[in-house]
Amino acid sequence: MAVSTESRHGMWSSRWLFVLAAAGSAVGLGNIWKFPYIAGENGGGAFVLIYLACVAFVGLPIMMAEVLIGREGRQSPINTMRALVQQHHRSPAWVLIGWMGVLAGFLILSYYTVIAGWALYYIFEMASGAMTGASGDVAASTFNDFLADPWQLLFWQTLFMAGTVFIVARGVIKGLETAIRWFMPLLFVLLFVLLGYAVTTEGFQQGWDFMFAFNWETVSGDTVLIAMGQAFFTLSLGMGAIMAYGAYVPSSASIGSTVAIIAGLDTLVAVAAGLAIFPIVFANGLEPGQGPGLMFVTIPLAFGQMPLGALFGTLFFVLVSFAAITSAISISEPALAYLVETYNAKRSRVAISLGVISWIIGIGTVLSFNLWADVHIVGERTFFDFVDHVSQNIMLPLGGMLIALFAAWGLPKTVVGSQLGLQKPWVNVVWKLLCGVVAPLGVAVVFVATLFG
Ligand code: PHE
Repeated sequence: MAVSTESRHGMWSSRWLFVLAAAGSAVGLGNIWKFPYIAGENGGGAFVLIYLACVAFVGLPIMMAEVLIGREGRQSPINTMRALVQQHHRSPAWVLIGWMGVLAGFLILSYYTVIAGWALYYIFEMASGAMTGASGDVAASTFNDFLADPWQLLFWQTLFMAGTVFIVARGVIKGLETAIRWFMPLLFVLLFVLLGYAVTTEGFQQGWDFMFAFNWETVSGDTVLIAMGQAFFTLSLGMGAIMAYGAYVPSSASIGSTVAIIAGLDTLVAVAAGLAIFPIVFANGLEPGQGPGLMFVTIPLAFGQMPLGALFGTLFFVLVSFAAITSAISISEPALAYLVETYNAKRSRVAISLGVISWIIGIGTVLSFNLWADVHIVGERTFFDFVDHVSQNIMLPLGGMLIALFAAWGLPKTVVGSQLGLQKPWVNVVWKLLCGVVAPLGVAVVFVATLFG
């Protein structure tokens, strides 16, 4: 069977548009909302450094593996895996990678839209001027009052889900490429404005130390598992999102350098967000480990104290919402592409059905912050904590490990060599070592250590 050079869903118009789309998928709530609060909850420095190591040694090779598999198969992850195992006579069990990714996608999208809804709410909160000159206490109580009202959360979650479904239904390439071109650079600029403000606060040194001072005492098996899960989440790895996008990449693009740029951008945004947020935490006597609300308290607080803060603050939450929507659409792409291919279904119909299912699961997350705050599923976890933990810390790393193993050991050398352009033998050895040994073994060791530690 000849390898196809086109996908039926369309193709990115160039390598750079793939970079933008994949960066749009990678840069999202994971960087600006999740990374700072998880780092805060896990003691800062040691967590951050372990996370960076996971990005470099586990994330990068796995991202290359996803793009190469996607581009080789040119279909949704499930059908791509099906075609590849048939063509190369491998066990059909590998197709489970695709199915697990679809399931993880539903779970992640379900809570992702709830949190993104908070960002939508804050667009209006900032624009109203309510946060101008507000104290730390006011910022915190504004947020807590908001969380306490399930109807509010439900409203914003629904709005965000509707927006996601709308874009997905129209096809990713039409609406998104143009928008990403403008919004991503603007987000960078605003983050750096915030960073500039953070540098002038008296908490900057403390914030810096909190993020980069490594101390072993805070490291446990769990810290490493959470850092690894975060690396997968932030790079959109392990569930086929990048594999699905990889199917639309032109054959001429170099995978290695493209992936390095995407991961570099993503890391830059996460580190900038942390360095913008922690100094504000310390300067205002707030708690770094306060959990999911961290960004929604510190950022409004900081803008509230700046000249033209209402304007910039509004713009900031617009951009966060935008970063979130470019990620949300990629989370649904594997399931969507699969249903369109398999049942020849209309993209818009499929988008609505997927959105409704995920919206229903998301109601559990909405309630986790109010009516169900004391309902615990397995140990101390609320519904949100549980869904988040299972998808991010277990399903994504497991999926990523299998993807790496398949790319390194399941595909013939010639296929990998031509996809990655591996001409020199030593490059091939490095690739095999990273993708076939270091990355999967790293995931396995962390799993085993957490299980017994
Ligand atoms: N990477 C996205 C973020 O950081 C989330 C995401 C996870 C997107 C998994 C796609 C797949 O917000």
